[in-house]
Parts: sequence; structure tokens; C-alpha cells
Amino acid sequence: MRIAVLGGTGNLGMGLSLRLAILGYEVIVGSRSEEKAKLKAEEYRKILSEKGFAGKLSGMTNSEASKICDIAIVTIPWEQAFELVKNLKGELAGKIVVSPLVPMKKEGKIFRYVEIPEGSAAKKLAGILKESEVVAAFHSIPADRFANLESDFDWDVIVCGNGDAKGTIMEITDEIDGLRALDGGDLENSRLVESLTVLILNLMTMNKLRDLGIKFC
Ligand SMILES: NC(=O)c1ccc[n+]([C@@H]2O[C@H](COP(=O)([O-])OP(=O)(O)OC[C@H]3O[C@@H](n4cnc5c(N)ncnc54)[C@H](OP(=O)(O)O)[C@@H]3O)[C@@H](O)[C@H]2O)c1
Repeated sequence: MRIAVLGGTGNLGMGLSLRLAILGYEVIVGSRSEEKAKLKAEEYRKILSEKGFAGKLSGMTNSEASKICDIAIVTIPWEQAFELVKNLKGELAGKIVVSPLVPMKKEGKIFRYVEIPEGSAAKKLAGILKESEVVAAFHSIPADRFANLESDFDWDVIVCGNGDAKGTIMEITDEIDGLRALDGGDLENSRLVESLTVLILNLMTMNKLRDLGIKFC
């Protein structure tokens, strides 16, 4: 299965690219720049080979990556993600598109959830990508710790969506060492997970904590 990580050159994209490649998925690191995508894919391959893994990782523009993938994960800052996917509607038609988007802004030290008229960032994405199956996942993963292959963790990932697409993303999430997928209901509920993530960021800032994930037990 081919998984495109759109904006896979960034913080969350790095961890997802590495960990999905370890599992044997064919990972395409997407970027606005083909050159940057290829350089990052090379960097990720090097990280994996130093750890004794042989991942299938390539780098392409977001558009090329969207064309040939089965699943696309949109790891782009939320303000820019909507415009990006508008231009990739055709390429992403018929595919599963994963939203880890957390709409937020900072007021001083405090993070605020930004209300999206459509109900959530994932729902807005689904409204644009009418011919794709949008699933919300991976919001509460602290990117730096996730990208560090030395790091051990035990986190839950709440997955919201409908039908088989949600099941597919839950199965893939469960395959990643240290992650447990929890069914969070339909896409309507993605709003709850997006805003919970903003709360976690505030907990970290206000309590001087780092890299907090979530675990329900
Ligand atoms: N960071 C986290 O801990 C974390 C955790 C969970 C969820 N998230 C969510 O995941 C998403 C990505 O977060 P991140 O921290 O990984 O982002 P990031 O590192 O700041 O950016 C990711 C990539 O987005 C691309 N990008 C930047 N501006 C763009 C634009 N104007 N148009 C198109 N592409 C653009 C860049 O790729 P190129 O320059 O290569 O095109 C960049 O490498 C966000 O929506 C965030 O809410 C983040």
C-alpha cells in the first residue's frame, strides 16, 4: 500500500514517514518542492538504514504523491492545508485522506481552538474533498518524540470517520509500536479530538511539561 505524507518534510510528517516505512508501507514524502522532497526522503532512508531498517521511501511533489498513493496524510499547517487540497481534489478522488489538522492560534502563552464553521478542520477537508474518504487521526501525537526512533511511548490515537476507511486507518495505527487506535466515532466527533489536542498543548505550556501524549486507562 502506498501512503503519501503531504508536507512529509515537516515535524509530524517525519515521524509518520519513518514509522510507516518501518512497517513496510511504500511511503512517499510530499512537498511543494520536488528537490526538498527527494532530499528529505534520502535523509529518512539514511536514518532507517542506520537503525537496520530498509524502508521504501521516495520524495515527490504533493501533487505527484497524491496521484499515485492509496492513502494521503495531510501533515500541513492547518491554515494552508485547505488551499492545498483544493488543488489536489482530482488526484485525491477515491482515496483515503487523513486529517491530523488542529486549528488553533496563540494568544500570549495560551493556545486557543479556532472554531471552523464546518464543525472541524477534518469536516472542512471532507467538504472540499467530496470524492475522498476523510478520516481524522494522529492529532495528539507529539511530533518530535514520535520522530525520534530511540524514543519509547505508549499513546492512544483517537480515530474519527465513517465506514471502512476508519477501520483501515485504525489497523495501520495499531501496527505502529507504542500506538493504540481508539474508535472516536464519526467525523462529526473530530472536533472533540482537535480541541482536546489544544488542551494538551496548554497543559504542556502551563505545567512546563514536554511531549505529552494521551493514554486512556
Ligand atoms: N507538530 C506536531 O506535534 C503535531 C502533532 C499532531 C498534529 N499536528 C498537525 O499536523 C499538521 C502539520 O504540523 P507540523 O508541525 O508537522 O507542520 P510543519 O512542520 O510546520 O509543516 C509541515 C510542512 O508543511 C509544508 N508547508 C508549510 N507551509 C505551507 C504552505 N503554505 N502550503 C503548502 N505546504 C506548506 C512544508 O513542506 P514543504 O516546504 O516541503 O512544502 C512543511 O514542511 C498541522 O496541521 C498540525 O496541526 C502537528
